[in-house]
Amino acid sequence: MDKETIIITGGAGFIGSHVVRLFVNKYPETRIVNLDALTYAGNLENLTDIADRPNYSFVKADITDYAAITEVFRQYNPTGVIHLAAESHVDRSITDPFSFVRTNVMGTCNMLHAAKELWKGNYAGKRFYHVSTDEVYGALEKDGTLFTEETRYAPHSPYSASKASSDHFVRAYHDTYGLPTVMSNCSNNYGSHHFPEKLIPLAINNIRHNRPIPVYGKGENVRDWLYVDDHARAIDLIFHNGRDGETYNIGGNNEWTNIDLIRLLCSIMDRKLGRPEGTSAKLITFVTDRAGHDLRYAIDSSKLQRELGWRPSVTFEEGLEKTVDWYLANEEWSDRIISGAYKDYYEKQYGNR
Ligand code: NAD
Ligand code: DAU
Repeated sequence: MDKETIIITGGAGFIGSHVVRLFVNKYPETRIVNLDALTYAGNLENLTDIADRPNYSFVKADITDYAAITEVFRQYNPTGVIHLAAESHVDRSITDPFSFVRTNVMGTCNMLHAAKELWKGNYAGKRFYHVSTDEVYGALEKDGTLFTEETRYAPHSPYSASKASSDHFVRAYHDTYGLPTVMSNCSNNYGSHHFPEKLIPLAINNIRHNRPIPVYGKGENVRDWLYVDDHARAIDLIFHNGRDGETYNIGGNNEWTNIDLIRLLCSIMDRKLGRPEGTSAKLITFVTDRAGHDLRYAIDSSKLQRELGWRPSVTFEEGLEKTVDWYLANEEWSDRIISGAYKDYYEKQYGNR
């Protein structure tokens, strides 16, 4: 019999690479296919440690191309799909909303439809997992309220509107065609291999190079930070044990204003780099606020904890230390992204296909 096959989309990105690594290592008898278009955010150097494993394959394909996706599905005949591929950066969605509609809405629809067509109603043992975000719920006041799975969708940015739309299509495919779907909405992730346009890796890099750390507005916006490996573990649990048609919120119970987070990071960086305390904080520069900037996100993950026994495994201080250590030990990884050299890796590894 063929090996069970799971297609993971967006596996060359930040979170996807952690999910691919976890599944390749944990399920050696399962074939893990990383389907990724290698946009600016996709970097196969994230996966050099598992690239030669016999249960791992990489396929370069664009989820906005329905014909290409159906061909990959025909070739690999997956029983499971874990869908992470997306345009993920809010600031880019403000300048280029259409890319977000194409990838996040049409791309997700293509993935759902390809799975439906492949499985043709024979849904036993099949699962389509859609990875979404807490941003679909909009913004919270600073009043202690948390996002639950019942919170009304109220996206504000083109990014979150596109993710909200994709979530609705996932529900529609479940309710209309019976597609066996499951979905999760997670808070802000941090950890290794995080693309250096996002707040934490951007700040680490700028501190390293003594460049200003741009803090939007007054730095009062609040995010709920989760260590990326804890997100990957939650995805594993939900993919295998979550209930059909359900949504699970995933969060770190770990709220920080941006300015407090950056001050903590500056202090860790000073210690690690042997600089006098207070050196890096001098780089903090308040800049024009993000348009439509959501004030606060915070997740109630009690459903996931109660039903599937998930818990975050590290405190923020531990996770941030590990993250900083990784960036300092892998300076070349960031430098190759910033110089653009990371884009050569695919051609060298896979040739011109
Ligand atoms: P990322 O930007 O680091 O990676 C996205 C990956 O998707 C890249 O490898 C890219 O090449 C690929 N991709 C983009 N467009 C594609 C297309 N058209 N076809 C095929 N592949 C394509 O993103 P991330 O931060 O790792 O986020 C992954 C998923 O998790 C996204 O769906 C995002 O909405 C969701 N999410 C992210 C966070 C977070 O804090 N980063 C939190 C909650 C949910
Ligand atoms: O909540 C989950 C979401 O978290 C994911 O769905 C998104 O894909 C992911 O990018 C992230 O979105 P944010 O907008 O919260 O992340 P970002 O790192 O861009 O910004 C974090 C906070 O820091 C936010 O309040 C904006 C602020 N910020 C960001 C950047 C890049 C700054 O103050 N300065 C910056 O330079």
